Amino acid sequence: MSKLLIALFSLAAVAAMPGAVLAQANCGTIGREDAKMVARYIADVIVAGRGIVAKNQNLINDPSKADKGFTPEYLEGQIRQSFKKMTGKDISELPPEVLDIIQQVIDAAKLSVQMNQRRINQKGKGFKGYIPAVFGRETGQILKGRCKIFIKQTTFKYRNAYNQPDPFEKKVLAMFEDPAYPKGKGYGEFVNSHYRYLQPIYIKKACLKCHGEPKGSIDPAGRKREGYKLGDLRGAISVAFPIN
Ligand code: HEC
Repeated sequence: MSKLLIALFSLAAVAAMPGAVLAQANCGTIGREDAKMVARYIADVIVAGRGIVAKNQNLINDPSKADKGFTPEYLEGQIRQSFKKMTGKDISELPPEVLDIIQQVIDAAKLSVQMNQRRINQKGKGFKGYIPAVFGRETGQILKGRCKIFIKQTTFKYRNAYNQPDPFEKKVLAMFEDPAYPKGKGYGEFVNSHYRYLQPIYIKKACLKCHGEPKGSIDPAGRKREGYKLGDLRGAISVAFPIN
């Protein structure tokens, strides 16, 4: 069975659990005036979480240790710190309707880490495959099931077909690739009844292990490295949600 199928089955299992895990989500409604801010914050949480999973790869893949302490609570604490660094804002100080949505994103991220505890804490195994892309994909799937918020990790150089950009994403990725485009700036638009937003992501030190050089060599995940250099545009976190 493919890893994706296993992930989908474990999601179905979680969805079937009663009570606490799937308490009726309070996803709120997002107005036009808040759309850009909310989209940016959602992307910030995903970028933060991905970065934390990347930074902790050595810990997660340490075969000599069982309990890694890489728990949902640890992740949340780290996300809160990164968010503050990225935005200058404390998550707890966001306006209540925005906070509700951001908490949903954090809860989805925590559930991904929760679902993977057994895998993360397995002793005697090195590379475990709990990488930023998997974290981001699972968080997106959970969030999509709970709220009408869609998250995708997209790029021109995709490893997996489901990450391939749609026409809107292609247009925005091309803008991000323009050397004149301000680095780090997200871009959003109202498209029909939805707000769509892309936040560029760049290659950091922790990404080079798998996406760096030499191009074509095999990374720890068994895939071909793309040959990116520090600071290169890797792609974007794409966020979409319906507008009230
Ligand atoms: C341990 C290896 C590893 C590390 C470290 C890693 N990645 Fe990846 N990345 C992968 C693999 C494998 C995939 C394909 C994932 C899948 O199966 O969906 C991927 C997919 C992606 C995707 C989705 C697009 C695609 O290619 O399908 C993006 C975007 C991405 N990585 C960015 C990053 C960034 C940015 C970092 C650093 C913060 C990073 N990755 C760190 C292995 C890694």
